[in-house]
Amino acid sequence: MKLVFATNNPNKLKEVQALVPSHIQLLSLVDIGCTEDIPETSPTIEGNAIQKAQYIKENYGYDCFADDTGLEVDILNGDPGVFSARYAGEAKDSNANMDKLLNNLKEKKDRKAQFKTVVALHINNKLETFTGICPGTITIKKRGTKGFGYDPIFLPNGYNETFAELPLEEKNNISHRAKAVKKLVAFLNN
Ligand code: IMP
Repeated sequence: MKLVFATNNPNKLKEVQALVPSHIQLLSLVDIGCTEDIPETSPTIEGNAIQKAQYIKENYGYDCFADDTGLEVDILNGDPGVFSARYAGEAKDSNANMDKLLNNLKEKKDRKAQFKTVVALHINNKLETFTGICPGTITIKKRGTKGFGYDPIFLPNGYNETFAELPLEEKNNISHRAKAVKKLVAFLNN
């Protein structure tokens, strides 16, 4: 079975490919010739995931799934949330995003946060969504070089290592995206 995963992020592709059974072959956006920026104009994480999956179905005709992720910080009332990618500006620069967040949390004791991923699946003309949440805290400074995005400043609950210090297999056991994708796989297996 071939299924489009609406991403060109090689890190995400690697994470998700490791979670889906081998009979499901994932195609990326490049594989289907989609090189334009897909609109993400919804005010919610769920809305953006749905928008991306619908865009591929409408414009390319493939069944597909898309994900959208946000980092929600309690003391910032859920920010950066749906604005996580552009927190420090349109450049979508992960280092600048982390610097801004660390600065906004300077001297704050409550550093609780959660990653939230919504996966939207468009299949057989039906839409399904799957949500995964990973609770944790924001560190005082960046630690580790693995992963991507906000990984160097996110300490998942129950661990002393940030996502950027943990091996990919470990992140994939507990991450927001893994939880959502495992629900997707269970759905596809039924
Ligand atoms: P997107 O919606 O998946 O494009 O991600 C929104 C923002 O969250 C981007 O800045 C990503 O780099 C970041 N992000 C998404 N997934 C993860 C993750 O697993 N770890 C760290 N940052 C992530």
